[in-house]
Amino acid sequence: MEKTFIMLKPDAVQRGLVGQILGRFEAKGCKLVGMKLMKVDKALAEQHYAEHKGKGFYEPTVAYITSSPVVAMVWEGKNVVVIARELMGATNPANANPGSIRGSFGMDISRNVIHGSDSVASAEREVALYFKPEELCDYCKAGEEWLS
Ligand code: PPS
Repeated sequence: MEKTFIMLKPDAVQRGLVGQILGRFEAKGCKLVGMKLMKVDKALAEQHYAEHKGKGFYEPTVAYITSSPVVAMVWEGKNVVVIARELMGATNPANANPGSIRGSFGMDISRNVIHGSDSVASAEREVALYFKPEELCDYCKAGEEWLS
């Protein structure tokens, strides 16, 4: 089953938005298979954002992500990468649909509340960066038998 990596960034944790955001993924029907509150160190942040090295926002983004704890998660479901991106809204909260997570909770691209993998390939890379295989849980979610 397809998986995606989602991270609630330091601003989401500090502002007490974790429960509300998790609720949107649960309400949609995504299946939570991994979750931890963690501090991202510089080496991990640099790996995560490696493709942006050299861009003006790279250093500030690494500093922001490492500044205080994040909630790292893995969600599973059919087409979950695209579905999660729709739930999140555009990268810049100023352009995000008002009903989306960034549209509801963000104002600023440098404090945009949430990260989600942008493709199945990125999801595989990011899940492996943040989670050991044994940290992911396999279980039957209520309703799964008729959803599938
Ligand atoms: S881009 O513009 O195509 O390189 O951007 P994208 O691939 O969507 O992701 C860029 C990540 O850096 C964060 N970030 C910014 N992006 C663009 N401009 C500015 N000023 C900026 N500041 C921070 C942006 O949120 C993306 O991180 P994630 O964690 O994926 O949201």
